[in-house]
Amino acid sequence: MRIILVGYGVVGKGVTTILSRRYVEKTRDVGFNPKIVAIADIDGAVINPRGLSPEKLEAIKQRGFPISADPDFGRPGISALDVIESVEAEVVVEVTPVNIQNAEPAMSHITKAFKTGKHVVTTNKGPLALAMPALTELAEFNNVYFRFSGTVGGGTPMLEFAKRCLAGDKILSIRGILNGTTNYILTEMSKNHVSFQDALVNAQKLGYAEREPSMDIDGFDAACKVVILANWIMNKKITLKDVDRTGIRDVSLQMLEEAAKRNSTLKLIGSIEGDRATVKPTEIPLTNPLCVSGVLNAVTFQTEFAGEQTLIGKGAGGIETASAVLRDLLDIRRKLATKLLN
Ligand code: HSE
Repeated sequence: MRIILVGYGVVGKGVTTILSRRYVEKTRDVGFNPKIVAIADIDGAVINPRGLSPEKLEAIKQRGFPISADPDFGRPGISALDVIESVEAEVVVEVTPVNIQNAEPAMSHITKAFKTGKHVVTTNKGPLALAMPALTELAEFNNVYFRFSGTVGGGTPMLEFAKRCLAGDKILSIRGILNGTTNYILTEMSKNHVSFQDALVNAQKLGYAEREPSMDIDGFDAACKVVILANWIMNKKITLKDVDRTGIRDVSLQMLEEAAKRNSTLKLIGSIEGDRATVKPTEIPLTNPLCVSGVLNAVTFQTEFAGEQTLIGKGAGGIETASAVLRDLLDIRRKLATKLLN
């Protein structure tokens, strides 16, 4: 499987690390033979149609920006769109930074990949939050697979769990902590009495927060994930503007102390119930399975037959999210092997 990697930030580097480590084992396990044939970033690209070796991937990581300075395969100035169009590959892995204004440049990368017959794996929430119904249709129209399991829950397979493991059941509602940064901030405030601002700075240092912190603290990131869950799991056709959203700016230490007296706490909860999609600070009992600490995410699926099922795991982090990319690549590999489109 030839792969074009577009975006070389924390997730992109995680993808090259994981694929290098897994080259041998996965080839043996399932006949999966991934080769990164190009990495495109804002300065240009590194291209080797025969595949960049693990040693070369490591050298690119060590040298850092600009990647196109690679003496053997560097192509300064070539755009990601040109790389997607001109380099032969089966899959484009799109991991550029999130933009919820117009979803660019990821939107153009993804649509270019579809139109040139390439499957897409992305961890980028922007295009999905703004145009998920249109993108899934475009993928179907072009007969390619579109996978994005790293967009919700990071490495924790929340979309996969709901789609595959709960396949025989009907999911009636979804509620969850979908943003690690705000959960970390609220946990620090309630357990360690750290101020909102100090907790945010720590979350940024630890690499959990988005480049633009408003994405996390004003609930946009969680709202993007609500949109993805609603479309993919509950067949709703909604976009970001349909989510009723409130962030955590107004949650004070005093409010958390008051909640603690009631054996509860405040969490930023995203939910899809009936026709309502919301993100808002919500008081929940400390005994609720959703009540997880730190950067953890948790999501509860209320099902018709099996009752409530809660999945908990790390929702942020480069290597964790990159593991979801590998999961999606393997899924595509399996689908291609059985020639099933769904
Ligand atoms: N900023 C996000 C979070 C990253 O804190 O959950 C993962 O989407």
